[in-house]
Amino acid sequence: MSVDTVTYATPPLTSPLTLIHEASQAPGWWRSAVIYQVYPRSFRDLNGDGIGDLAGITAELPHLADLDVDAVWLSPFFKSPQRDAGYDVSDYCDVDPIFGTLLDFDILMAEANRLNVRVIVDLVPNHCSDQHVAFQAALAAPAESPERDMFIFRDGTGQDGNEPPNNWQSHFGGPARTRITGPGGQPGQWYLHLFDSSQPDFNWDNPAVHAEFERVLRFWLDRGVSGFQVDVAHALVKAPGLPGWGGRADGGSSDGFPGHEAPMFGQPAVHDIYRAWRRILAEYGADRILCAEAGVDLPRLAHWVRPDEMHQAFNFPFLHAGLDVYRLRGVITDSLTVLNGVGAPSTWVLSNHDVVRHASRFGYNGHGPRDGDGIGPADPQPDTDLGRRRAAAASMFMLGLPGAAYLYQGEELGLPDGTDIPGHLRQDPTFARTGGERLGRDGCRVPLPWRAAERHLGFGAGADPWLPLPASFGELARDAQAAAPSSHLNLYRSMLALRRGLDLGSGSLAWAEDWCSGSSLAYVNGTTLVIMNLNHEPLDLPAGRVLLRSAGPETGHRLASGETAWLCLDGGGAE
Ligand code: GLC
Ligand code: CA
Repeated sequence: MSVDTVTYATPPLTSPLTLIHEASQAPGWWRSAVIYQVYPRSFRDLNGDGIGDLAGITAELPHLADLDVDAVWLSPFFKSPQRDAGYDVSDYCDVDPIFGTLLDFDILMAEANRLNVRVIVDLVPNHCSDQHVAFQAALAAPAESPERDMFIFRDGTGQDGNEPPNNWQSHFGGPARTRITGPGGQPGQWYLHLFDSSQPDFNWDNPAVHAEFERVLRFWLDRGVSGFQVDVAHALVKAPGLPGWGGRADGGSSDGFPGHEAPMFGQPAVHDIYRAWRRILAEYGADRILCAEAGVDLPRLAHWVRPDEMHQAFNFPFLHAGLDVYRLRGVITDSLTVLNGVGAPSTWVLSNHDVVRHASRFGYNGHGPRDGDGIGPADPQPDTDLGRRRAAAASMFMLGLPGAAYLYQGEELGLPDGTDIPGHLRQDPTFARTGGERLGRDGCRVPLPWRAAERHLGFGAGADPWLPLPASFGELARDAQAAAPSSHLNLYRSMLALRRGLDLGSGSLAWAEDWCSGSSLAYVNGTTLVIMNLNHEPLDLPAGRVLLRSAGPETGHRLASGETAWLCLDGGGAE
């Protein structure tokens, strides 16, 4: 049914403009998929050492299949000293012992295949761990050697080379350069690290680096993965000559300003890397995908998902729009228009392992915490009920959109951030590198509560979890919520089932102008009207049968403050 044929009681739609998202309608499972991010160290600890593991994921995978997700994306579980929670990889083709073994991975894959859930793994190509054999070889080799050329080593400036080669800053705080010392203790060259000093950046001008990562891609494709999330995909290639950069002091963070050309982001040659990777994936069939974690703004994001590059890219502009209806509307319209223009489906995402969970972000009236800064015991605390209610509304608004949606583990439980983590337990390098000024991202990485009556709420039966689960997680445990019909978890189940039944992921969007205001936003996707009320007052709902609403008990044909509803406009509709 087209929007023009939709009939409302009062008032009718004015100037309906349908944005048909053809890119989400073309063949390809990923174009309209729901992909669930698993953060392995916090998912489920089966061997009782306090850290989640692959066997724990396998054990609980039926719950994710039951939620009806199309795929899981696993954050890094590769061999790593864990200085940046596994984003510092020392061996890309092996499993870190804290997570298990390659055999455990194969068992996980087999279970995922049985349950018809695809597996996407994280690829971290911008940098590795300083414990990686290639970096250790570079340290042992002389300047200008092939070993050094795998990384970005330069002589220092100033007297005796005491000053770093340029002024770039680390995303985690402090300089992005560290000087090495030779075997005799003599000072040597400086290497580049856009993140922690334990994460040296690879030199993507060197063909040997390309060859190594092509091997890594094949290794995991051969093991059956459906694709890769590509970490900091905009940063691999640096501008020739590594020119100084007077931009944002955290140099590696999102480069969200038009015309803001940082020498470490979005260099033209970075796209050739993904063209080559896409050709490799194609050898394995059309259903293997690449997803870019590229902190760039729209419309530039479209450059990463041109037809011969990646399949999709995280839509951080959508995440950062928060609950600002004007920004949301702009970002959604732009995303569909711009991404459709290159044949790529849009993605939608509200939470991940790097940002304060949306149930906490939305628990503030006014400004909440900055991304990466976290919330500590001394900070103003979010209103958890308000946050959870608005989070449900925002998720329901998101899951009605055409395109692919990414969920972060625990959001289906409405989990807030852990805000009472003591400093000595914090592990995000941001905390140490800024002397505690920025708390970092540990709050959104707190382990999941599975079973309310069990030790550590069922996360693990042994040692204390690597980060403490707040007491409030007890009533949010999965088993408690599974038993409560109007729980956040059951709302997610209903949303995902309806989304699939109504084919919303491969639908279209027309803004329902008469229901869009400074504090409400509504669109029509197929025969479904999605309407979100962010006003302090309730809103009378348009005519139509209510399919689902986000705020618990019925409040008649009115939408409560901080509530979203899905309405069926044709009197029928799938259920
Ligand atoms: C990405 C990851 C983040 C990590 C960083 C460095 O932004 O999402 O967790 O710290 O890359 O690898
Ligand atoms: Ca464990």
